[in-house]
Amino acid sequence: MSDLSLFLGQFLRRPSEIRAIAPTGRATAREMARLITPEMEAVAEIGAGTGTITQAILARGLPAERLELYELNAAFCSRLRQRFPGALVHNLPAQEMVNVGRRGLDAVISGVPTLPMPDDLQAAIVGAALGMMKPGAPFVQITYGPVAPLSEPVRARFGLRHVKSRRIWANLPPAQVYVFRQTA
Ligand SMILES: C[S@@+](CC[C@H](N)C(=O)[O-])C[C@H]1O[C@@H](n2cnc3c(N)ncnc32)[C@H](O)[C@@H]1O
Repeated sequence: MSDLSLFLGQFLRRPSEIRAIAPTGRATAREMARLITPEMEAVAEIGAGTGTITQAILARGLPAERLELYELNAAFCSRLRQRFPGALVHNLPAQEMVNVGRRGLDAVISGVPTLPMPDDLQAAIVGAALGMMKPGAPFVQITYGPVAPLSEPVRARFGLRHVKSRRIWANLPPAQVYVFRQTA
């Protein structure tokens, strides 16, 4: 089955978890992966889906062994394990990464749909990620909405500043990439 068919089939079963009808397009995936360098020691991707952004991360030259993936959906995890045998795939919600993951992450790349989530769930996810990241490391978040994908109270709670990309129209739906960093 193609990635598109798998993605659409899972979206129809679990629309509130997946929130997009198609995998991220290539231009957006490249923007999501832009800050990744081959020298990074450890990177996590959360909400990896069928692996479009994963592919872009590895195309930046990061060895697959330094990449950990967290994905809620078991069918997507099977696809990720087939496509990226060198990467470690966890069939777990991102907010549980603190229990299993590598510390000292150089970046977290997030396809998890945070915008529609309540503040306590946003905080659980970003708090778990920040707890595993090096100080000042980027938390890169895709969004389809018109506002920042982490709420103002959540950003204030964790001392997050952000920069955002232009809107990428060649994506279904059009997307934007936010880079959040914790200030000292
Ligand atoms: C919009 S899709 C993006 C998939 C993929 N990153 C892409 O760009 O095509 C959102 C993904 O986040 C996953 N997801 C939702 N909530 C999650 C959570 N709390 N932890 C991990 N994955 C989650 C969904 O199962 C889905 O695969």
